[in-house]
Amino acid sequence: MLYVLLLLIAATSVSHIEACSCLQSHLQSLYCDADFVMQVRLRGPPEEIYRKEETEDFDETSNSYRTFINRRVTAIKYNVKIRQIYKLKDNSTGLDKNSTVTEIFTGPNDGLCGVRLFERTNYLLSGKYYNGALHIDICSSIASPWSFITKMQKKGLRFTYKRSCDCNIQNINYVDEVDPKACVWDPRKVDGNCYERQTACILDKNSSTGGCKWQRNGKLKACRLDAKSRRKLP
Ligand SMILES: *[C@@H]1O[C@H](CO)[C@@H](O)[C@H](O)[C@H]1NC(C)=O
Ligand SMILES: *[C@@H]1O[C@H](CO)[C@@H](O)[C@H](O)[C@H]1NC(C)=O
Ligand SMILES: *[C@@H]1O[C@H](CO)[C@@H](O)[C@H](O)[C@H]1NC(C)=O
Repeated sequence: MLYVLLLLIAATSVSHIEACSCLQSHLQSLYCDADFVMQVRLRGPPEEIYRKEETEDFDETSNSYRTFINRRVTAIKYNVKIRQIYKLKDNSTGLDKNSTVTEIFTGPNDGLCGVRLFERTNYLLSGKYYNGALHIDICSSIASPWSFITKMQKKGLRFTYKRSCDCNIQNINYVDEVDPKACVWDPRKVDGNCYERQTACILDKNSSTGGCKWQRNGKLKACRLDAKSRRKLP
């Protein structure tokens, strides 16, 4: 479970603030939807990108209207070192599989779905291309410290997810009707995160309907048993 963010930002009486709220997606779905997926590390502190804006305001000392210049932060830019590339949709950003550095942009704050990254941490990041640049946001990106990524997820990033992008993972909390060909996922169940951390949704070769299934493996089984036994503790 990399993200569940349902940010509730109190709307003040004067202005209504759009909050960033998103549905929880499986790592495989985020991988498949992404334009890029890579492991990165910041090369320095984040940089603010701003725009100058002129506003007219009444100036009491001169008793007249004056033009003020404001700096409005419109984005945050991260300069990153690329440690590993797992997916690049095409070369429209000028990156190829040998690239070692890039810039990644995000919104200036949480309300605008900005992703906060810190120095001295390796991250798994995914996102979209926008005007030839790399963008990340809270809802559609993976942004996880690399140390949280399990062995099975690393295998997914290298092989399984790419081969399984025709498989749809349905978060049961957000669908009205379950698709029998999809893998159904309930992250709210006690063993829900086992399905994200220890397995992938793969084509069911034995299915006549071309359906998909959760790949069975020992780690998934152990994770589910562990989750259920911890649930029973007082
Ligand atoms: C990008 O890819 C296109 C099509 O695959 C190719 O024609 C073009 O030369 C590539 N550009 C660069 C800079 O590699
Ligand atoms: C990446 O580097 C290798 C080795 O230097 C080179 O053979 C290959 O053409 C490069 N690939 C791209 C896409 O630039
Ligand atoms: C495919 O499914 C059938 C019927 O459920 C079963 O008998 C068979 O062993 C399965 N084959 C494989 C390769 O799993």
